[in-house]
Parts: sequence; structure tokens; C-alpha cells
Amino acid sequence: MSKTIVLYYSATGTTKQVAQTLAKQLGADLAEIHPVKPYTSTDLNWHDESTRATVEQKQEHDGRVPIKDDLPDLTPYDNVIIGHPIWWGIPPRLIAATIDKLDLNGKVLATFGTSGSSGYDRAQANIARTVQENDYQLDLQSGDVLNSPAKLNAWLDSISLK
Ligand SMILES: Cc1cc2nc3c(=O)[nH]c(=O)nc-3n(C[C@H](O)[C@H](O)[C@H](O)COP(=O)(O)O)c2cc1C
Repeated sequence: MSKTIVLYYSATGTTKQVAQTLAKQLGADLAEIHPVKPYTSTDLNWHDESTRATVEQKQEHDGRVPIKDDLPDLTPYDNVIIGHPIWWGIPPRLIAATIDKLDLNGKVLATFGTSGSSGYDRAQANIARTVQENDYQLDLQSGDVLNSPAKLNAWLDSISLK
């Protein structure tokens, strides 16, 4: 039987809830991604462009934010789903660091976001570039913003997992 894992990063709990629902619906395992340095509420204040998250997001496209070395071994999994908030239109830079660290060769990779209003196009392009930078041979699915249970179900119907 094929196996799926949902990995997520969530600063304020919204993505976590969606990831939990998704994992339950799919009978998948669930694991959280941890930045080495957790974000404080000041770090996340996008109204002030000098704060951490904004400065990180606005760096060059290959920017990375380090994560803790506690990711699960992906060997048993066929499908890897990664969930994240959208920050300045794209995934937090720690998602690229996560993709760098995992061995995703041969996997199906599907990603999703939660956001205030942004769609997923720029996030998808960002993920695709990180996959390419790592030279992974994998089956990348089209991600989406899952801000409601209806969107979640529609997205699950639209992707092809093993
Ligand atoms: C630094 C920062 C930047 C954000 N940028 C965007 C954005 O560009 N577009 C958007 O729709 N929402 C944006 N948001 C809102 C988050 O995407 C949204 O609240 C998300 O659901 C939070 O997920 P979480 O609770 O899992 O961290 C931003 C939030 C933060 C903290």
C-alpha cells in the first residue's frame, strides 16, 4: 500500500489545522517543520518592512532559512505533501531549506498554502525552482491555497497521488 506524509510549517496555526485535516482524510503521517530560530510575533509583523520575515522573503530567490535537523526519514513514503503559509506571495524561505534537506527523488510531491488572499501561482513557481535547483526527479503536482474545507476537497480530487 502506498504511504503519504504531510509535512507542514505554521507560524500562527492556520496551516497546522489544514495539515491535520488533510493527514486525517488521507490516513497519512504528519510532521512539523521547525526553523532553527522560531519566529516571534515581532518577526512576523509584515506592516514593518524591516522585520525578520519580510527581510528574509525579500532576499534573492535562492535565499534559505535554516531548519532543525528533525525531519523524518522519507524512505517509506511514496507521496510527500508540504503545507506552508504564504509570506509575501511565496512560501517561507525555510520551505526551500526543507526541500534541500529531503531526498525527494522518485516521490510524488504536492504542496499547499494558506493565505490572507494570495493565490498559489508564485508559490508554485518558487517550489518548482527549488526542485530544479536540487535536480530531483520527482512528480510535482499543482499546489493550491486551501483556505476552506471545500478548497481542500477540490484540491485532493485534482492531484494524483500514488
Ligand atoms: C510575514 C507575513 C507575510 C504574509 N504575506 C502574505 C501575502 O503575501 N499574501 C497573503 O494573502 N497573506 C499573507 N500573509 C498572511 C498568511 O499567509 C496567512 O495568515 C496564513 O494563513 C498564516 O498561516 P499560519 O497560521 O499557518 O502561519 C502573510 C503573513 C505573514 C506573517
